Amino acid sequence: MFSRRVPSDLRPNALAERRRRAPAPFDLTVSNPTACGIPYPEDLLAPLSRPSGLLYRPDPSGIEAARGAVAADYRRRAAEVDPRRIVLTASSSEAYSFLFKLLCDPGDAVLVPVPSYPLFEHLAALDGVRAVPYLLDPADGFRPALDGPLPGRVRAVIAVHPNNPTGSFLDARGAEDLREACRGAGAALIVDEVFLDYPLSRPDPPPTLAAETDVLTFALGGLSKSVGLPQLKLSWIVASGPAPVVEEALSRLEFLADNYLSVATPVQLALPLLLSAGAAVRRAIRERCLANLGVLSRAVSAVPALAAPPPEGGWSALVRFPAVVAEERLALDLLERDGVAVHPGYFFDFPSEGWLVVSLLPDPETFAAGASRLVARIASHLDGAGPGGPRSVRPRGD
Ligand SMILES: Cc1ncc(COP(=O)(O)O)c(C=O)c1O
Repeated sequence: MFSRRVPSDLRPNALAERRRRAPAPFDLTVSNPTACGIPYPEDLLAPLSRPSGLLYRPDPSGIEAARGAVAADYRRRAAEVDPRRIVLTASSSEAYSFLFKLLCDPGDAVLVPVPSYPLFEHLAALDGVRAVPYLLDPADGFRPALDGPLPGRVRAVIAVHPNNPTGSFLDARGAEDLREACRGAGAALIVDEVFLDYPLSRPDPPPTLAAETDVLTFALGGLSKSVGLPQLKLSWIVASGPAPVVEEALSRLEFLADNYLSVATPVQLALPLLLSAGAAVRRAIRERCLANLGVLSRAVSAVPALAAPPPEGGWSALVRFPAVVAEERLALDLLERDGVAVHPGYFFDFPSEGWLVVSLLPDPETFAAGASRLVARIASHLDGAGPGGPRSVRPRGD
């Protein structure tokens, strides 16, 4: 009776089941910035209640003033973006869905980075598209490791800049490798830049890919990360590349968006003020992430066998541990014995065992307590590793 787009087995995994029964007091997986004590200006949402919002103004690609505000915001990222090349959506997930519909027929494929955002597989499947993985190589700073020409029927290559959860930016060489692959296959590039405003290894972010000239490119951004307001449901797609193909893509995207009209009028009208007030929220979130990162680095440095490779940007960090214990066992132990919730690396398809992912958003006390319990738990596994000491990390499937 049902389509194969939705998985037939929707039972929670062991970790999710355990967390459902007893929430962890030290939750290092929070991704909702509005639920971890980040200070937001009290009047931030006041522009939503302006009377002009009483008039419904359906405009498939977005109200002109709202698109203008997004374009103006790109000047902060040193890019000149034409507002006519912007399409507003309700979320980045919806932006992906529009782009998959724009570029792919059922059964076509999109190339997705691994390790990365676990939703890609579902988002692709929900549009009848296959997600084909390409490796971000841990031994090469998580740079894309594309192997030869793209497989047939690949219509788009996705990059996440900076990537979630590895925190790695797409550098000039990586970007050129992806462009080259797209040129060879006549595919488009989709660059998810939702975390671009959060550099952690440098004061300013690296360049956006929202103003490409050569390959058809779609850069994604949105309020959920840029202003820490996922509940407002407003994101954007910026199309760039050779003018004729961009024009064609935009008119087709407008057709797609016209069938949904999903972005609310009041949030579009409020967008110029929300984007300008967003600087304070961004600063608070970035400071939180940097402070928690410092705490994590100090905690991890107490155990020489552990490493916390410094993320270049984003809201999460990695902990690398020797494979004396499987990721899932360790994550369950942390939950059941220490009350600490973390994501095991396999959740993001890391190519080998021995990775944990932690969010840098939690409030400082929760984060410090969680990080020190995490390190102590791994140290106890290392102590129990026997006279041969810890085994080295093996590739998955060994
Ligand atoms: C890489 C990446 N893209 C997009 C999103 C979701 O953005 P939105 O809330 O706009 O759908 C996330 C959420 O964590 C993410 O990690």
